[in-house]
Amino acid sequence: MKKTARAHTNIALVKYWGKKDTDLIIPMNGSISLTLDHFYTDTTVEFDPSLTADSFILDGQAKQDQKLVHFMNHVRKLANIKTFAHINSTNHVPTAAGLASSSSAYAALALAASSAAGLNLTAKDLSRLARKGSGSATRSIYGGFVEWIAGEDDLTSYAVPLEEHTSWKIAMIAIVLNSAQKKISSRAGMQTAQTSPYYPAWVKTANDDLKSMRQAIETRDFELLGTVAESSALKMHALNLSSKPHFSYFMPESIIAMQKVEELRTMGIPCYYTMDAGPNVKVICEEENIAAIIDHLSKVFGKDQLLVAHPGEGAKLITNEGIEAK
Ligand code: PMV
Repeated sequence: MKKTARAHTNIALVKYWGKKDTDLIIPMNGSISLTLDHFYTDTTVEFDPSLTADSFILDGQAKQDQKLVHFMNHVRKLANIKTFAHINSTNHVPTAAGLASSSSAYAALALAASSAAGLNLTAKDLSRLARKGSGSATRSIYGGFVEWIAGEDDLTSYAVPLEEHTSWKIAMIAIVLNSAQKKISSRAGMQTAQTSPYYPAWVKTANDDLKSMRQAIETRDFELLGTVAESSALKMHALNLSSKPHFSYFMPESIIAMQKVEELRTMGIPCYYTMDAGPNVKVICEEENIAAIIDHLSKVFGKDQLLVAHPGEGAKLITNEGIEAK
């Protein structure tokens, strides 16, 4: 069977940064994210008995990827099959936006590959499967606000929707800063970060952050949501600055972007920033303030560097005719 799935990228408001099991990808702490509408991955999987290895095409180019083969082995084990597959993936993310995170990639692959293998997994089990490809993909199975329950093992570490179809007019503006600098993968980065003397404090405070974030979403408290998100991101980057060896994802422009957001706040426009395993800054705001924020940011950044996204949907199977009912 040939199956195609679409999954959207998500940005964490309370970050995941560090694992207690590197093989199964069990995180040290829970995390909460917002799935976005504009950035997504479409992946088609077809198992073919004539293949002697998995074949992978990403954005039209043949690729070798050990991580992906490892993931497909999990799918084969689950479906009790030995067949290899054709995998064809397209990222619908503006080039160099740094938003083509593995979250949409492994969420789409988990759904397409498990369906093509004849499995009909529940959303919970899909999130457990996606987790084995990439931690953040666990959350992209659902739309809107999503929590990844850290758990202790394969069975207890999965995502739950907090508000799949949110009516809250919340938005994220990605400030795209091209980086010539060599990227440190999230996998390597979070492993090094765990050497920081502050790591125990990160884990300890994550639980309070999760509690406040759930409350902020429930009560539509934008100030609380933004304050906690900004603090979680800064704590994550502080781990990188204090690990052995220390490293950072900041570019000079990342700092300028953060200062612009802080300036906007002093001007009375509520907005907050977050940053992941790359130099791009994402501004969290409410719909009514997008125009004013873009206006201020365009004093230092080009309009083409500013991409606006809204809450997006969970992973879906798609056909040529559109979304498949599931
Ligand atoms: O699961 P990965 O390898 O995409 O790592 C995600 C790490 C962060 O994006 C920095 C934080 C997060 O929770 O998504």
